[in-house]
Amino acid sequence: MARTKPLLRVLGGETLHPPPIWLMRQAGRYLPEYREVRAKAGSFLDLCFAPDLAAEVTLQPIRRYGLDAAILFSDILVVPHALGQEVAFREGEGPVLAPMRGVADVAMLDLGRVAERASPVFETVRRLAAALPEMVALIGFAGAPWTVATYMVEGGTSRDFQETKLWAFRDPEGFEILIDRLVEATILYLSAQIDAGAEIVQLFDTWAGVLPEAAFERWVIAPTQRIVAALHLRFPGLPIIGFPRGAGWLSERYFTATGVTALGLDTTVPLGEARDRLQRLGPVQGNLDPLLLVAGGQALAEATSAMLSALSGGPYIANLGHGIVPNTPPEHVAAFVERVRRG
Ligand code: CP3
Repeated sequence: MARTKPLLRVLGGETLHPPPIWLMRQAGRYLPEYREVRAKAGSFLDLCFAPDLAAEVTLQPIRRYGLDAAILFSDILVVPHALGQEVAFREGEGPVLAPMRGVADVAMLDLGRVAERASPVFETVRRLAAALPEMVALIGFAGAPWTVATYMVEGGTSRDFQETKLWAFRDPEGFEILIDRLVEATILYLSAQIDAGAEIVQLFDTWAGVLPEAAFERWVIAPTQRIVAALHLRFPGLPIIGFPRGAGWLSERYFTATGVTALGLDTTVPLGEARDRLQRLGPVQGNLDPLLLVAGGQALAEATSAMLSALSGGPYIANLGHGIVPNTPPEHVAAFVERVRRG
């Protein structure tokens, strides 16, 4: 009988010792082998759209660390790009988009183009599904509508999300048209990844934590719930990991109301609350501070032990509370993985 991959077992509710481990942004600039491929690819988006190179950088951290999952190498901003918005990644500046400021801009987004414009990403997934070691799970992903909308409206990263929040507060019916379009694009985009061989999907809601309760309900919970319901209708039993970064007091509500299979915890979620209130509802994932991985040494060792002793008594996936940063020493990642493997 074929053995089941550890990550899938935990997502099915089992408790494993040691817990499976993967790391958000595990492929990236902290790895010299990534920088080498990245230099060959040209721009970052060129890399996302070159299936041979994208598959190669996805596999690099698997070879180096023997992690339990590979996460498709792509970006959450591939969806706005596929919808027809101009997206560029400038060196040292992050993403730059032609900002959208009203319903007239939404009309330019074309759902009909998404499958074709994102097709290289699905080809990457197909290659990965064929190339992965037997016990390594393949994770597909998308940004959640609220987070993707913030980049589309602000035109890039933001400190206060003024433009997006003011649009949502002043003209909720208009803003909802944008969110609806993103819900549909995300269902389409994730369904194609699953058809191509992704076994799990994660929804990154990086900026979920900036909204007051009512807006969180409407722009984070409701769209996520619709995506989860549509995917589960089409792919019964599909494991979906939700990562509502900064959700804080609203985490329990998010976990139960959206129907996600597992909850990704950010670095600020207290371990005791995670164990007593969230892990009771289902598997949890996280939440080491990525800067502890830069610091290494005693600080990393102590935090890892505390995290494991709090969470490994239930269904748990060891991970970070946000993505790896570029100045992370690769040997600190190795030490972290080894420590988790010792249980
Ligand atoms: O986890 C992985 O290894 C898979 C790949 C992945 C990337 N981005 C690659 C990437 C994933 C899952 C993402 C998600 C993503 N992208 C999020 C959500 C998670 C989070 O980190 O909050 C967000 C908000 C983005 C948008 C984005 N992409 C920004 C703000 C930036 C610039 C910041 C930076 O680190 O440069 C990117 C670029 C990006 N996405 C890089 C990588 C490896 C760096 C680009 C490069 O190599 O030059």
